[in-house]
Amino acid sequence: MPLKTLFPTQVYAEPLARSATGLNRRLLRECLQLRHDDRAGRDWSARNYSGGYTSYNSRSRMQQVSPTFAGLEQRLDDHVRRYVRALDFDLRGRRLAMTDCWVNIMRRHGVHSLHLHPLSTISGTYYVRVPAGCAGLKFEDPRLERFMAAPPRKTSARAANRAWVTLPARAGHLLLFESWLRHEVPPSRSSDERVSISFNYSWF
Ligand code: NI
Repeated sequence: MPLKTLFPTQVYAEPLARSATGLNRRLLRECLQLRHDDRAGRDWSARNYSGGYTSYNSRSRMQQVSPTFAGLEQRLDDHVRRYVRALDFDLRGRRLAMTDCWVNIMRRHGVHSLHLHPLSTISGTYYVRVPAGCAGLKFEDPRLERFMAAPPRKTSARAANRAWVTLPARAGHLLLFESWLRHEVPPSRSSDERVSISFNYSWF
């Protein structure tokens, strides 16, 4: 087919490392401990985070207070470098660095509705624990509001042609995307808790 793919939306999905079992175990322990200790975060989550706990509004720079999270940051830095190379970003003169890193623990039916991360450059999530039946991360075609009279896509449409694509959440794996890309976490059907760590990188 004489087709050229222009303006692709590129999302990065990879295991964190060939073997990061020890790091993952420490992260899981710290995530659960954080929820236990973070009263302000639990209160905020009860009001703003349906069906779960997030440290987004209380302990959002975990990489600066925990050596375990700093270890995660170090590994994520390598992935972000590979990702921005693939995106052909010209980062000269400024630094792309992690600004925020927070914990999310979602229970059954927990959702995180459609949003983007407006002040950042690259965002992503690392999955610490993902019980079977947990939702992945659902991305929305950023051109959607321009589609006007465009027909819907076949249910059999290839992923690259769909308006919404859900990438699976897998323990020990990470997803990276450009922060302007809208995404959501659909409701979880698992009765076990899903634990993830989200983060932002900014260019400054
Ligand atoms: Ni998000």
